[in-house]
Amino acid sequence: MNIKSGFTNWISPSNIALVKYWGKKENQIPINPSISLTLNNCHSKTKVSYSKSKKGFNYEFFFHSEKKQSFNKKLDTYFKRIIDHCPSINQLSLKIESENTFPHSSGIASSASAFSSLSLCIYEIEKIINKNKNDFFNKSSLISRLGSGSACRSIYGPIALWGKTKYFDNSSDDYAIPLKNYHEVFFDYLDTILIVDHEPKQVSSSHGHELMNSHIFKKDRVYQANENIGILKKSLKTGDLKSFIKVVEQEALMLHALMMTSKTPYILFKPNTLEIINEIWNYRKKTNLNLCFTLDAGANVHLLYPKNEEIEIKKFIDKNLLRFCSNRRYIHDSISEGPKSNDG
Ligand code: PMV
Repeated sequence: MNIKSGFTNWISPSNIALVKYWGKKENQIPINPSISLTLNNCHSKTKVSYSKSKKGFNYEFFFHSEKKQSFNKKLDTYFKRIIDHCPSINQLSLKIESENTFPHSSGIASSASAFSSLSLCIYEIEKIINKNKNDFFNKSSLISRLGSGSACRSIYGPIALWGKTKYFDNSSDDYAIPLKNYHEVFFDYLDTILIVDHEPKQVSSSHGHELMNSHIFKKDRVYQANENIGILKKSLKTGDLKSFIKVVEQEALMLHALMMTSKTPYILFKPNTLEIINEIWNYRKKTNLNLCFTLDAGANVHLLYPKNEEIEIKKFIDKNLLRFCSNRRYIHDSISEGPKSNDG
């Protein structure tokens, strides 16, 4: 086949889960469905240049212009897993250049934005070479999942669902879908990320997922996550922020409770994570404003709140919460429509 050289270029954001994906089966299939908000400012930019290879598939990876071999193990696994979906890359040499807009070593997981932006670039190449035009975003979501589970949700904004559930007819374990029916209060929902700890976390998410296989609460957790999808579907539709907050905070605490009660227990949050949670609960009691928190698999705290309460809540963050952040660092973000092609 006559292959012309070229490049593809995508910007893709990170996402924050409201109902958490925790635990997987073979082939990166989740044990429970999850829902997330797609972010805006926290994103990765990736460019993939390709040319016909004389020696079979090969790639080089650059992160912030520096050649990085340390990512090769993850990337090798990813390319092995996606090859059946993107057969054209077998004949290519790739140069992958990626960068994150959020501060390096801020403790913010970058795998969702990194793998979704890379997957969009790779699937676009597949589309160009094999003239395969069908289901571009679904297929990009599917191969993102094979890099990092949560990355498949970053393909869609502002709210994405991944995993088969009785609450959404077109839901799938293979890829994420965009959530259509949600209240206007969520159009411009905000997320301020408090950096409590900027060190890379001690235990990887992969290990955490693995520990779910033998977790004593596995069955109940899967049941709870499914129930929470149903409750959240309703609150997202009606804009009922009280029930939204209840589910989101319960999910965050459950994620960490599962870590703490696994066969080899571990704790990822820090004393300041708890200080922040208590401050939020006191503040909510006092003001009745709709500020809530969620947590990733780490110590940092995502503060979620509606745009129309921004002024008051930001004052509270500056006055009461910044003192618990490492170097007083935080990132203001909001939800977005999802990835953008970065051509030109
Ligand atoms: O996509 P992974 O394998 O990095 O796992 C992500 C797990 C959580 O971030 C804790 C939850 C989620 O649904 O994003």
